Amino acid sequence: MNDQIFEAVVTTVSPAGQPHLAPMGVRYRGERVVLMPFKPSTTLDNIVATGCAVLNLITDARIFAGCVTGRRSWPLLPAERIAGMRLQAALGHVELELRERADDDQRPVLEMARIHEASHAPFIGLNRAQAAVLEGAILVSRLRMLPPDKVATEMAYLQTAIDKTAGAAEHEAWAWLREAVNRHQGQPL
Ligand SMILES: Cc1cc2nc3c(=O)[nH]c(=O)nc-3n(C[C@H](O)[C@H](O)[C@H](O)COP(=O)(O)O)c2cc1C
Repeated sequence: MNDQIFEAVVTTVSPAGQPHLAPMGVRYRGERVVLMPFKPSTTLDNIVATGCAVLNLITDARIFAGCVTGRRSWPLLPAERIAGMRLQAALGHVELELRERADDDQRPVLEMARIHEASHAPFIGLNRAQAAVLEGAILVSRLRMLPPDKVATEMAYLQTAIDKTAGAAEHEAWAWLREAVNRHQGQPL
C-alpha cells in the first residue's frame, strides 16, 4: 500500500536570503515530516544548504494554482524558531529542520524534525472546488508529460466541482489553470 500523502506548500530560503515556495506532497512518519523533491529542485538545494523548511497547511487553492502558473509571490511572514518564512495564508504551519537525507539520483528522501508548530485560522471543511484546483494544478505541473486529450477530459470533469462549489478564490485559481492548459495546447486563451 502507498503511504498516505498530504499536499501542502513548502517554503524555504536560499543561503542568500531568497524565499522560495513549492507545492509538495508530504508524508508523516511518526513525529517526522518526509519530503521527496524530484531533482533538480530549488527546495532541495535550499534545505540541504540551510537545513530548514516550513510546511504550510493551506486551503487557499490559489497558491497551488499560482505556483504552477508562475505566480510565486505570496505574502510571507518570518518563522518563529528557525531561519525561514511561512505563508501568511497558512491555516497552520510547521517549522522543520533536516535530520536525515537519503540521496538519490532522481528523488532524495528528506526526513525533517518538527521544531515548532502553530495554528492561525480554523479549518472550515472540505470544499470540492479546492480539491478540483489541486488536481488541476497537478495536471498543469505535468502538461509536458501528459497526452492533451487526457488533460482536456480531466479538466472537463473537474469543471463540475468548480461550477457547483467554487468561491471567488477558486474561480480565480481555475482561470489561471485553464489559461495555462489553453496556452500549452495552442488554443485561444
Ligand atoms: C499538489 C502538488 C504536489 C506536488 N508534489 C511534489 C513533490 O512531492 N515533489 C516534487 O518534487 N514536486 C512536487 N510537485 C511539483 C513541484 O511543486 C514543482 O515542480 C516545483 O517547482 C518543485 O521544484 P522547486 O523546488 O525547484 O521549486 C507538486 C506540485 C503540485 C501542484
